[in-house]
Amino acid sequence: MSASAPAASPVDKSLFVFLDRCHLDIQQKLEQMMALATALEEGELTPALQAQARALTDWFNAEPRQHHLDEEKHVFPSLLASNQEDVLQATHRLIQDHGWLEADWFEIEPALEAAADGNSWFDPNVLRQAVEVFQQLYLDHIVLEESLAYPEARGRIDPALLESMGREMAKRRAVRDAKAAKA
Ligand SMILES: [Fe+2]
Ligand SMILES: [Fe+2]
Repeated sequence: MSASAPAASPVDKSLFVFLDRCHLDIQQKLEQMMALATALEEGELTPALQAQARALTDWFNAEPRQHHLDEEKHVFPSLLASNQEDVLQATHRLIQDHGWLEADWFEIEPALEAAADGNSWFDPNVLRQAVEVFQQLYLDHIVLEESLAYPEARGRIDPALLESMGREMAKRRAVRDAKAAKA
């Protein structure tokens, strides 16, 4: 947080607690994906692993994109207005990471989709290595956000807006889930 930044207000929990919870979810799903990739490398594609591959494919096709959108819309703009070089550099790196994370996911998705459908044409060793790269980049990204970007943004975003930002993020997901339920 910058020296001139206002103290965090209790209402900012609505935004940052939401984002922190997303990070916990992402880390948990990454661990599950690594366990799945390891199991696929070591053994047969069982119906249980197939179901896990389906659940993880669906989750990674939905949640991280929402989370990145939340950050790009509500967190990063305040950081890009900074005149501190380290803050600007970190923010540009985080934005670039979102692109790399998407690219990494596209490397993994076809194999997980195949596993979900009961097909095992993919090389499980290549899959496990791709998951390792994806997990490491994500964890490094989260560390940079939690150690620098979020504390800095917490001090820069108008406290009056934090609660409405949190509500907007929740609403966007509710609309998405309602559309999915109708499909
Ligand atoms: Fe991010
Ligand atoms: Fe994040």
